[in-house]
Amino acid sequence: MPESDKIITIDGPAGSGKGTVAKLVAQKIGYSYLDTGAMYRTIALAVSEKHINIENESEIESVLNETEIKTEYNNTNLNIFLNNNDVTDKIRTPEISKLSSDIARIKSVRKFLVKLQREIGLKGNIVVEGRDMGTYVFPNAKHKFYLDATAEERAKRRYKQLKEKNNEEVHTFEEVLNEIKSRDKQDMERKESPLHPALNAVIIDTTSLTPSEVVVKILKSTEAA
Ligand code: DC
Repeated sequence: MPESDKIITIDGPAGSGKGTVAKLVAQKIGYSYLDTGAMYRTIALAVSEKHINIENESEIESVLNETEIKTEYNNTNLNIFLNNNDVTDKIRTPEISKLSSDIARIKSVRKFLVKLQREIGLKGNIVVEGRDMGTYVFPNAKHKFYLDATAEERAKRRYKQLKEKNNEEVHTFEEVLNEIKSRDKQDMERKESPLHPALNAVIIDTTSLTPSEVVVKILKSTEAA
């Protein structure tokens, strides 16, 4: 069986539920899991810690040269390491969300991460989630999904997550909604691998579905194919 038969890609905008669903699908079928958004977030963290001007290509190159990203998946959680430091929680702030979308427009950053993603993904038996998994990184994957939901519903989910982390005083619902809308725009309109469904992706609107309902749809679709 070619490796591409053993890769499930799940793409979609922020808050579409792809992270939760991808993890559940991986658990159900005993696949590994890769969150590529966490990789962009980790580069964003490195850039912010070094106070780099992201318009300066050579400064970005120097960050990439000094950056080692490792991921560890243990059947429930994915931990991500920046130069051997666990940054799994540190990368989940609205500031890093915005910066990760900003640096994701940069060609050298994408090239650096796509290489790593392919090295991990092409081992097979993996669910990969992000923005360009089905369109660019794994174009030959047999099972491709694109999750979407209204911006309001996605902001509601993000706001709830922030509240659970006691971060709600710093960001209002309106701020989260605006952040999601501007990130959507930037991720969809950028030149390099913009966010859109792959031609052969199954599109699922998750607005009024629970994560388990989405998982059932995905599993049914992969069994039928
Ligand atoms: O999925 P996320 O919200 O953690 O992703 C953070 C940012 O990273 C997102 O706004 C755009 C970028 N990204 C990307 O460009 N390509 C991917 N495959 C994954 C994420």
